[in-house]
Amino acid sequence: MPGICIVGAQWGDEGKGKVVDLLAERADAIVRFQGGNNAGHTIIRDGEVFKFHLIPSGILYPGKRCIIGNGVVVDPHVLTDELDALKARKIDTSGLRISANAHVIMPYHLLLDTAGETKLGKLQIGTTRRGIGPAYADKAARLGIRMQDLLDEKILKKKITAALDPKRLSLRPYVKDPSLDLQSMTEAYLTYGHRLERHIADTARIVWDALDADRLVLYEGAQGALLDIDHGTYPFVTSSNPIAGAACVGAGVGPKDINEVWGIAKAYVTRVGAGPFPTELDDEIGEEIRRRGGEFGTTTGRARRTGWLDIPALRYASRINGLTSLAMTKLDVLSGFEKIKVCMTYSGPDGAEFSDFPYHQSVLHHARGEYIELDGWTEDITECRSPSDLPRAAVDYLAFVAEQLQVPIVLVGVGPGRDQVIWMQESAQLAAVA
Ligand code: IMP
Repeated sequence: MPGICIVGAQWGDEGKGKVVDLLAERADAIVRFQGGNNAGHTIIRDGEVFKFHLIPSGILYPGKRCIIGNGVVVDPHVLTDELDALKARKIDTSGLRISANAHVIMPYHLLLDTAGETKLGKLQIGTTRRGIGPAYADKAARLGIRMQDLLDEKILKKKITAALDPKRLSLRPYVKDPSLDLQSMTEAYLTYGHRLERHIADTARIVWDALDADRLVLYEGAQGALLDIDHGTYPFVTSSNPIAGAACVGAGVGPKDINEVWGIAKAYVTRVGAGPFPTELDDEIGEEIRRRGGEFGTTTGRARRTGWLDIPALRYASRINGLTSLAMTKLDVLSGFEKIKVCMTYSGPDGAEFSDFPYHQSVLHHARGEYIELDGWTEDITECRSPSDLPRAAVDYLAFVAEQLQVPIVLVGVGPGRDQVIWMQESAQLAAVA
């Protein structure tokens, strides 16, 4: 029963969608297990660009079960738009399944997300303002609306009323907002329910059946380890757990149903939104990486902050995920830099040097990267397809990272296209289903 979990090993936007897309060819089911439409995956297939926020990346393969698991929060407006866009491009979406237990992002969640950020002023998190945090908050408060509730008018109305009641004060500035009208909100969400009904299912059972039949299941994470609400740079994090352990909760499987955990990391680091970033480059090198890497958010269009690769942070991500493999994306973006810096330790304001990712917020906010310099390469590597095509310095860079993490690099990305990858070694689980 092979299961491979794909997770972001940095602050999101590592290129997970492309890796999932590659592996999905051999999988039976692809399950998203957390997050919502705060995520954004770009997949380039035969020169065509596809951008997804909610639908699992495997949807481009007809006949696969593409599952939005119970751990995801679903904005049905966004989901139906994504379905329409795919249908317009003649993509078969009949394989999409949405957990009946997945929670729904409601109009008041969107308003509360923006209101919360505005209230925080200078201290704001820089959320995607998609209502993700407020939806997860309602889930924890047992005031959430679930996909199954969209199929029953009486229940839906009752639950919306109960959810709105404790929010009256915070929603007072929006009291005239038409999206908050109980009757029209209920009607609109029943309509979504009606439209999505054929996709709503007991998705955990679908995953178990695939595992029992010895078919490959991919667990697709969103965001990245350092945005994890428990283990990330709290409070500058998302409201779910993007780490591999959460795949069990968000898909409905046990730990033994995950055989490999692939961490996806860029050859450098990016972050969107506020929060500490010890290797951030505020100079022309950072600007150059942003330009070459096209580092602008898929979801919000915001310019991403950029920095050198951070080994202590990556080691930390490896540990909390239990990484068995690393896929390094966007190696081509580093071509042309004479020297490439890699952060090996941090220094604090008092001159202390430390090599573990700091657990204390104040320490982390003041930590600055301490670097070693590796040789860069000048060759264009976008046409390389095997390790032997790569310049020596690029091979050395990869070997150095693998050695530091004690995690083998299985795959390297050298461009945005689907074929622009180098397989460094075969995965046992993939070999088993080949
Ligand atoms: P939220 O998930 O919209 O609540 O935003 C919380 C933090 O997570 C903000 O810093 C966002 O920029 C960040 N974030 C959320 N989703 C993603 C993503 O898919 N990639 C990168 N950052 C993200």
